[in-house]
Amino acid sequence: MESTRTPIVSTANQQAIYGSDPQRRITMRDLQVATDKGQRWPMITAYDALSAGVFDDAGIPALLVGDSAGMVVFGHDTTISVSVDELVMLVRAVVKGSKRALVVADLPFGSYQASPAQALETAVFFMQKGGAHAVKLEGGAAVLPQIELLANSGISVIGHLGLTPQSVNLLGGYRVQGRGESGETLLRDAKAMQAAGATAVVLELVPADLAARVSEVLTIPTIGIGAGPHTDAQVIVWQDLVGLTAGPAPKFVKRYADLRSIMTDAVSAWSDDVASGAYPAEEHTYK
Ligand code: KIV
Repeated sequence: MESTRTPIVSTANQQAIYGSDPQRRITMRDLQVATDKGQRWPMITAYDALSAGVFDDAGIPALLVGDSAGMVVFGHDTTISVSVDELVMLVRAVVKGSKRALVVADLPFGSYQASPAQALETAVFFMQKGGAHAVKLEGGAAVLPQIELLANSGISVIGHLGLTPQSVNLLGGYRVQGRGESGETLLRDAKAMQAAGATAVVLELVPADLAARVSEVLTIPTIGIGAGPHTDAQVIVWQDLVGLTAGPAPKFVKRYADLRSIMTDAVSAWSDDVASGAYPAEEHTYK
């Protein structure tokens, strides 16, 4: 299917997303307006103040403090082990390190599934303690009551359908979701999430045609990752984007740099200089 959306965000037309005051924080409403205008926008993960500042300077309008931190920051094999207390400190850092981007906090596994009240308590914690501007949670029909309560409480809540990594043990691996009949369920869940008050929906690892159908039907933004070119926005784990993660990347990842090699070469060169005495040189030495 041909996309009818026009591409943005070059820094030249960020203004279209940021509205009239480029110094204020971007809101979910700004991103909805961009989507309404057919403008695509990027969201990138961030887990610390320094990288958040880089992405902010690059004009990225939305930063996701993903539970992918469990893997890329804390070194776990899955996102399941990351806790609310671990993630909230990262959210604080990302909010402090950015000036303009909307900061979205992922609700970790076990912090919202039990009940809408549990979801509300966790979301409030992320907003009050971390400074998050929106939250994201995974799941389909089962979390509709959570979305409804959060939305009715004035919280911007983003849904997450398709591959939901917190359910990897049930799904049997990181595989494409929504092929065949299950695509209809996903479409139904997406519509129900919008009706429940979700402000956007992440679609992870789903066939491009299905993501296109969901994006056509929903008025709220769809944010794709491994969901093809027809979603309203794209999200990516930043270490994948710049080639910092080790090993082969998933098919949907386009590496824009080879930061792992650059860092390895730099650290090796410094290490050699330390060993040879070439560092520190005169110019690095206080008199
Ligand atoms: O945790 C995360 O980084 C995510 C994105 C992959 C959507 O949920």
